[in-house]
Amino acid sequence: MSRSLKRLLVAGAAGFIGSNFVRLLRHTRPDLEVTVLDKLTYAGNRANLLEFEGTEGYRFVHGDICDAGLVDTLAGQADAIVNFAAETHVDRSLMDPFAFIETDVRGTAVLCEAARKHEHEVFLLVSTDEVYGEVPAGRSAETDAFRPRSPYSASKAAGEHIAHAYAESFGLPLLVTRGSNTYGPYQYPEKLIPVLITNAVDGLRLPLYKDGSAVRDYLFVEDHCRAIAQVLFDAPGSGAYNVGTGAETTGLEVAEAVLEIMAKPKSLIEFVADRPGHDHRYALDISRITALGWEPRVTFAEGLERTVRWYVEHQEWWRPLKSGEYWDYYRRNYRPLVS
Ligand code: NAD
Ligand code: DAU
Repeated sequence: MSRSLKRLLVAGAAGFIGSNFVRLLRHTRPDLEVTVLDKLTYAGNRANLLEFEGTEGYRFVHGDICDAGLVDTLAGQADAIVNFAAETHVDRSLMDPFAFIETDVRGTAVLCEAARKHEHEVFLLVSTDEVYGEVPAGRSAETDAFRPRSPYSASKAAGEHIAHAYAESFGLPLLVTRGSNTYGPYQYPEKLIPVLITNAVDGLRLPLYKDGSAVRDYLFVEDHCRAIAQVLFDAPGSGAYNVGTGAETTGLEVAEAVLEIMAKPKSLIEFVADRPGHDHRYALDISRITALGWEPRVTFAEGLERTVRWYVEHQEWWRPLKSGEYWDYYRRNYRPLVS
């Protein structure tokens, strides 16, 4: 099937994945009208979408997904919503859980309500593999139970539960993507890969929790965005789709690969105190999305090389972000390893 959407409301698109998604849509579907709604938190940056300002079919609205009046007005001018808006950093969720509950749970509910009222063709919620919780062995299938373990993943899981309740109770046409750890250009430098790269540029230590052995399925942002677009336009009916590559990489392997690409010494790696409740491994069964015709195109080696190059060449983008509040957060977050 192919949905012929004309007007899309994209929430949270001034952030990392959302801005890459809007870039993909503007290039592949120039006739689709895109309205971005974003609160511009510390992680949101209007400059991420600067190239589209003033172009036909693109509009930026500065606002909060928890603002029911504003969301109702914008939903009335769209045939579908894609929601990226969220508080997204696990470490910050350990410092301030309520910001996560407000946006990731209540904000999601506000969007569901507006999509229902305006009888949207589809509501796509961008969720995460973290809703399944830690996976010591095997792979998570879409039908698996949620076992979130951090305030971030619990908030995302709760937001998803609300959306599923709207689908069951009110017939909301709901699509969900559960992506794995995503990296690439425009990622705020608090997540692992941009922390490692930007620290390495400045000759700073590369902090790894505990012994760097936690495993993630690192997914290049372009592949993640193509998957979301494919689900949005091609997935029949309602349902959830895992999105990942199937590969497993430890934090230590990522740090060593970054240093290798940048020709910097491995001695820059520093093991620090572990993240409380650190999920050691996530792993996804991706057979449902591959059956839809999607597959990852960018290997980790290629994606990491491109990402390192982007951060090295776009220091004007990340240097202003690594100041003031950032270092307050950094000092609170990273503690020495006590053995
Ligand atoms: P991000 O932190 O880079 O961006 C989040 C965006 O949401 C920012 O622009 C921020 O200003 C906006 N926002 C936050 N609260 C808002 C509110 N109340 N109203 C409106 N806008 C608000 O996040 P990201 O990494 O791009 O993640 C986007 C989505 O994808 C999130 O829902 C996240 O849970 C999900 N996800 C992320 C990853 C990943 O590895 N980054 C993987 C899987 C799923
Ligand atoms: O899996 C999808 C999730 O991936 C998304 O839902 C989240 O929004 C996104 O932040 C990401 O969560 P992670 O916790 O996996 O990402 P993060 O980059 O914070 O950490 C990746 C791994 O690296 C994890 O095992 C913790 C570790 N780590 C992280 C940081 C920031 C370190 O060892 N050192 C660090 O400084």
